[in-house]
Amino acid sequence: MDAYAPKRSDRFTFGLWTVGNPGRDPFGAPVRPVQEPATLVRRLAELGAYGVNLHDNDLVPFGASAAERDRIVGEFKRVLDDCGLVVPMATTNLFSHPIFKDGAFTANDPKVRAFALRKTMEAIDLGVELGARTYVFWGGREGSEADACRDPRTALKRLREAIDFLCGYVIESGYELRFALEAKPNEPRGDIYLATTGHMLHFIETLEHSQMVGVNPEVAHETMAGLSMTHGVAQAMEAGKLFHIDLNGQRIGRYDQDLRFGSEDLKQAFLLVRLLEGTGGGEPYDGPRHFDAHAYRTEDMEGVWDFAGGCMRTYNILRERARAFDADPRVRELIAEKPDALLDPLLSGGYSAEKAHALRELEIDPDAVAARGLGYERLDQLLTEHLLGVAGA
Ligand code: GCO
Ligand code: MN
Ligand code: MN
Repeated sequence: MDAYAPKRSDRFTFGLWTVGNPGRDPFGAPVRPVQEPATLVRRLAELGAYGVNLHDNDLVPFGASAAERDRIVGEFKRVLDDCGLVVPMATTNLFSHPIFKDGAFTANDPKVRAFALRKTMEAIDLGVELGARTYVFWGGREGSEADACRDPRTALKRLREAIDFLCGYVIESGYELRFALEAKPNEPRGDIYLATTGHMLHFIETLEHSQMVGVNPEVAHETMAGLSMTHGVAQAMEAGKLFHIDLNGQRIGRYDQDLRFGSEDLKQAFLLVRLLEGTGGGEPYDGPRHFDAHAYRTEDMEGVWDFAGGCMRTYNILRERARAFDADPRVRELIAEKPDALLDPLLSGGYSAEKAHALRELEIDPDAVAARGLGYERLDQLLTEHLLGVAGA
């Protein structure tokens, strides 16, 4: 029995656009044939995935008639039932069609903004029909190169109006659906508005229905911005806003690579899994573990399934390593918080004049405190050895 083999209970999901990615890039044509959604779903189920996510146009071609749409959706639902796969998340393609070349919700032409809202309402209906509980907004074209084209504040106002409107639509339709906003600093636009998860978290607080809106952080996007994905995700978790997550691999300073999870910066991947699983303490994340990545352009379809299996297997290995790390008595000793009966009450629960007075009276020898080594070299070496699988040796 393979301890790392993915199971439904691991709740791994893939986008149709991920395993279906034909390997097109700005410099070259597709290297793999386009796959039928049904084929992708069947293979994902065999591999042990839990669900599949989609953009409206991953399933229903742009401009399809109502009858065509209903036929496609009906067939897709039968395949899902057959395989026991669910659709936990859905989203809208607001970037492929040329109408979105200046953005969707932020475009200067009101016709474009109207079209984007209408397309999103239809895509929300589709997602809900397929059972989705989370709706992702990735504003890939919501940005600029010629930045003088609009006041960036106008862009933010338009985005807010769009999300407020769509929240209203969900509420009035009686849907049980939450929104998850996905940040990205650039690509395909020179600069994309609300560049990081941190930007999104603030923006959400300015929305009319902020309680139904959270974030969908992506490893690649936070890393492109040179940030710690783990810290961004932790902030979202602490705020109760981690509604979804896009797992993949990325090297800093590159284009959006969307590589196999864990294929780059294994240490960040380890720390992220540790956080999501709560092995170091704290509430775990309880949503689907979604892989928004694709296989190298060198691969045929067999390589695509190696890629998908690899994402899930690496996650499971890292979860096991994280558990072992946090159960290691040497680690626990190094990071144990030592209760301090005098200082703890002074440092929590807010300000009081008595506390301010007591703080002034404290005897603290800064040089003595500073002279203590903290053992973080040992801690990080232990992390490395757990990660490399030799911690007990
Ligand atoms: C990207 C994005 C997308 C979105 C997807 C779902 O950089 O291409 O990560 O893959 O996640 O469109 O909204
Ligand atoms: Mn990406
Ligand atoms: Mn993504």
